[in-house]
Amino acid sequence: MKIKNICCLGAGYVGGPTMSVIALKCPEIKVTVVDLNENRIAAWNNEDLEKLPVYEPGLAEVVREARNRNLFFSTDADSAIEAADMIFIAVNTPTKTYGEGKGMAADLKFVELCARQIAKVAKSDKIIVEKSTLPVRTAETLQTILDRTGNGFKFEVLSNPEFLAEGTAVNDLLNADRVLIGGKQTENGQRAIQSLVDIYAHWLSPKQILTTNVWSSELSKLTANAFLAQRISSINALSALCEVTEADVDEVANAIGTDSRIGSKFLKASVGFGGSCFQKDILNLVYLCRYFNLPEVADYWEQVIVLNDYQKYRFAKKIISSLFNTVSDKKITFLGWAFKKDTNDTRESAAIYVAEHLIEDGAAIHVFDPKVSEVKIKADMKYLWELKGLSDHKIELKLKQIFVYNTPAEAMDQAHAVAVLTEWDEFKGYDWEKIYSNMYKPAFVFDGRNILDVKKLTAIGFEVKGIGKG
Ligand code: NAD
Ligand code: UGA
Repeated sequence: MKIKNICCLGAGYVGGPTMSVIALKCPEIKVTVVDLNENRIAAWNNEDLEKLPVYEPGLAEVVREARNRNLFFSTDADSAIEAADMIFIAVNTPTKTYGEGKGMAADLKFVELCARQIAKVAKSDKIIVEKSTLPVRTAETLQTILDRTGNGFKFEVLSNPEFLAEGTAVNDLLNADRVLIGGKQTENGQRAIQSLVDIYAHWLSPKQILTTNVWSSELSKLTANAFLAQRISSINALSALCEVTEADVDEVANAIGTDSRIGSKFLKASVGFGGSCFQKDILNLVYLCRYFNLPEVADYWEQVIVLNDYQKYRFAKKIISSLFNTVSDKKITFLGWAFKKDTNDTRESAAIYVAEHLIEDGAAIHVFDPKVSEVKIKADMKYLWELKGLSDHKIELKLKQIFVYNTPAEAMDQAHAVAVLTEWDEFKGYDWEKIYSNMYKPAFVFDGRNILDVKKLTAIGFEVKGIGKG
């Protein structure tokens, strides 16, 4: 079946960029991205491309070319669903914060709502594509809802997980290592798979397009994220050992990474991984393993999260112990708040948890991030404290310990310590001599990303402490 009209439910970090690239590469297909959030849709439609709701290098150019040609952003989900031959579900699947599976399982309520809405509105057969990251066997649930609540039309459910990383989304989509499409092994299932293969074949070669059964595809997404996060926790675990043995974690990573069986990517020791997905997806995997009565497998993967929490805590503790065991009323400057460079996304950023530990010890946290606003930073902390059950009054008081600046110089002026939380390139090029002269002495730098020139900073007079450096 040749697809002429696509609808995508969810205009977030995945739905927006993915559909923009599909529209760019398939000008004969009309692509409509819909969202419940009116502000988000308005931002996607903003004339000023600087104001798109997602910051991704190269995205504005893609949107400029395709928008209002064959790419549309709308809040009218019913019309878009009705007109579409193929519907992508790219809504959020956060960790459950209530009830059964709280803190572990993926919350599938948004996905379920999409299925119910599709079933209600559809007036023809449709291919439904799972783009969100979902627990293995979700396609079965979707199929049941679609078949039982629909109006007798046929729905073919495919799994097509997304592997893009934030900050490199456009490049990851245009030059994907692979796309993965899972479908039923029936004739209709295979036909549906082929329809989606034909879309990606507009710009990817056949060997970049993998097809599997639905369950392998669903499980491969959780597995890919678990393996990637596991590498970071592995090198971070060893960073702690490096610090007490005078080994250098970057040298160790380089030494092992040159073994082609291990490979060099994703071995950068850090203050801990963040982002909306690694933790959520591993917790989901752990929950599934427990559900299927595989406790040893669950414990194995859970350790990746335990280690990551330890790494964030260890970093905060190092700051406190270096500053003579108290940071009370001291100015600690955070360079970076985003969970990685080149994105404005702060979800699960290590900065949030390090800030929490330091604020608990009485510190004043002064933040500069080139892309993250004061409103966002305070909302991140408020959300965490609300989850922990703190009273509104306590939260108000704690928020007074956070200060956010538009320039790095102001943020670091008269600071007791500077901590690098995000690896933004611009931090490397700052005038560190000037920064030093404006700081309290001894002037500490805690480089949670190992991006600064330690020799240069030490020569200026800084006390520099990196991750995994003796
Ligand atoms: P997001 O929160 O940025 O966007 C999801 C959007 O869906 C929101 O704007 C929300 O308003 C909208 N939405 C929720 N219910 C809806 C409904 N019924 N109808 C229409 N819109 C609805 O989330 P995201 O980061 O884009 O992630 C989406 C999914 O993709 C998740 O499952 C995530 O795990 C997965 N994923 C994310 C990334 C990433 O880098 N962020 C990468 C790969 C996979
Ligand atoms: C990750 C995966 O890389 C994507 O393939 C996947 O599609 C996505 O999750 C998802 O499912 O959401 P993302 O979270 O955007 O992408 O970013 P990563 O580049 O993977 O970084 C995640 C975190 O790990 C960041 O905090 C980063 O700083 C940290 N990291 C990464 C390290 O600490 N060390 C490394 O070597 C690599």
